[in-house]
Amino acid sequence: MKIRPWTFEDLTTIAAMEKDCFPQAPWSVQMLADSFLSGRFVGVLTEEEGVITAYGGMSVLLDEAEIELIATAEEYRRCGRGQKILSALLDEAKKRGVEKVFLEVRVSNAPAQRLYLRNGFIGQYARSRYYPDGEDAIVMKKTIG
Ligand SMILES: CC(C)(COP(=O)(O)OP(=O)(O)OC[C@H]1O[C@@H](n2cnc3c(N)ncnc32)[C@H](O)[C@@H]1OP(=O)(O)O)[C@@H](O)C(=O)NCCC(=O)NCCS
Repeated sequence: MKIRPWTFEDLTTIAAMEKDCFPQAPWSVQMLADSFLSGRFVGVLTEEEGVITAYGGMSVLLDEAEIELIATAEEYRRCGRGQKILSALLDEAKKRGVEKVFLEVRVSNAPAQRLYLRNGFIGQYARSRYYPDGEDAIVMKKTIG
């Protein structure tokens, strides 16, 4: 398994994976491109025999980062790829001098919450009806440095 940064050419594949992993609110190629080209974006993915199996992305501004995307293709889940992606993002955040990392997660998304909790993220507060379908988000934060 190879872990590597995103390239512009990956965006269409990642957009297709977004539709599978987040059917209610996937990021489009345009949204991905806007973040990717912002100059503040860090994207990493796992690739196996030419197939992208998991990906993650984060925006960094000064000493804060926000993890905006993280997903593993359904058939590859629960084998450590999500953890690898998250660790790579956190390592890069640390290298860039980030002190606080934030993310939002659906209240119903127990798998993702477990991943974040075991990586030292702590729930801060809820954002009421944050998602387009009306579900609340939990904002989580990890302090690094
Ligand atoms: C959340 C997600 C990225 C995890 O990816 P993954 O490759 O399956 O994660 P890993 O195999 O590295 O699992 C790492 C840890 O996360 C937790 N976890 C992952 N899937 C879980 C599940 N189905 N149930 C409970 N805990 C789970 C566990 O603590 C797990 O460690 P363990 O297997 O030693 O118990 C994946 O489930 C996913 O893509 N979900 C859909 C998209 C999504 O919700 N993204 C997060 C948006 S905030």
